[in-house]
Order: sequence, then structure tokens, then C-alpha cells
Amino acid sequence: MIAQRPEITTPRLYLYLFGPEHAGVMREHVARNEGHLARWSSAHPEGYLTESYWETRGKKNVDEATAGKAFRFAIAWIDQKRGPVLGMVALTDVVRGPQQWANLGYGLDEREQGKGIMVEAVKAVCTWAFDELRLHRITASYMPTNDRSAKVLRRAGFAVVGYARDFLFINGAWRDHVLTALTDPTGRAPGPTSGPG
Ligand SMILES: CC(C)(COP(=O)(O)OP(=O)(O)OC[C@H]1O[C@@H](n2cnc3c(N)ncnc32)[C@H](O)[C@@H]1OP(=O)(O)O)[C@@H](O)C(=O)NCCC(=O)NCCS
Repeated sequence: MIAQRPEITTPRLYLYLFGPEHAGVMREHVARNEGHLARWSSAHPEGYLTESYWETRGKKNVDEATAGKAFRFAIAWIDQKRGPVLGMVALTDVVRGPQQWANLGYGLDEREQGKGIMVEAVKAVCTWAFDELRLHRITASYMPTNDRSAKVLRRAGFAVVGYARDFLFINGAWRDHVLTALTDPTGRAPGPTSGPG
């Protein structure tokens, strides 16, 4: 049974599935980093910088996790669990059956870069996804110019598996992406939490 509101801890970090009650800190995080993240993001919906948007988004986040479709985590320092959001890391597009896949995405507060936060968070989420969700493969992609993202994935053990032209519509244009993946090193078969086939 997967916890409805999973939490993941690492030596330095606390990752929690954000809900409507976190609308304030989530709004602050995205507002503070609007310019920094826009370069690597798809277009934001109307009201993205309002607290009411993050209340609705938080409810949807809990619903999607309960349905086993997507798991979006906010990152905080372990000793400041209710403190500012340092970044986000998300597993989306969960596919069950013989695939057992999900896609990984992430972004960090501009001021918190260069501290190893994202590698630590990505490694922890992948381990959790293999052990608790019993996924087998996690995919992630980055624009060829995004050196920092490439390093995060390489350090977390992801391997480059391809190159896709015009892969995602990011910051106003179709952008090529390098495709990467990480598979569960144990190679175990789908388990009791692996969802319907
Ligand atoms: C991509 C992104 C998350 C990478 O952030 P980052 O800070 O470079 O990555 P990490 O948090 O893993 O930190 C790694 C750096 O911290 C350094 N570091 C400092 N202290 C460290 C510690 N205690 N442990 C590990 N690394 C440490 C590492 O040496 C490394 O620096 P280097 O790359 O210059 O060698 C960030 O740049 C970002 O949010 N970009 C915009 C959004 C984005 O691109 N999202 C991904 C789209 S595909």
C-alpha cells in the first residue's frame, strides 16, 4: 500500500507531496523563480502566480497521487520542514502493465543551485519509485544546452538513450531534447503495488 501523502527524507532534505495547505509556500517559490525557471518550462496556465491556483493545484496533486498517476514533491531542508520550498521534483505519466515507467522532472530555486540538492533529491525519489511504487524505468530529458540538468542526471546514474528533435514545446518553441533513462538495478518483477496491468 502506497502512503497517500508520501514523504521522503535524505540526510539533508525533506520531500513531501504538496497539497492545498502548501499553496502559500508553493506560490512564493514559483514567483521568486519565475524568470529562472521560464527558460526551461512549458507555458504556465492563467493565474499561475496566485495562491488560489496553488490551492487547486495542490488538491489535484493529492488526487493524482491517490490515483497513482503522478507524484509531485516539494523539497525543503530536513531541519526546516515548514520552511521555504527549495525546489520541486516530480514523477509523472506513470504507466503500469509490462512497462512500469514514469517520467521525471525537476527545478530548483535559483539561490539554492550549486549545493547538490537536486542530485540528492533525484536519487531519493528514484529509489522510492523503485522500492515503493515498484516502477522499473524512469525517463528524463533535457535540452542540449541545459548543462546543469545533464550533470544532475549523469550523477544520478541516468544513461543517454537517444536524441529527439522538436520533442517538447518549451519557452515558446519546439526544442530538441536528449533522452535519458534509469532502470531499477534489481531487475525485480512488478510487485503488489505495481497497479493493474
Ligand atoms: C537543473 C538544476 C536543478 C541543477 O541544479 P544544480 O544546483 O546544478 O544541481 P545540484 O543541486 O545537484 O548541485 C550540483 C552542484 O552542487 C555542487 N555541490 C556543492 N555542495 C555539494 C554537496 N554537499 N553534495 C553534492 N554536490 C555539491 C556540485 O559540485 C555541483 O556543482 P557543479 O555542477 O558545478 O560541479 C537547476 O539548475 C535548475 O533548477 N535549473 C532550471 C530548471 C531546469 O533546468 N530543470 C530541468 C529541466 S530538464
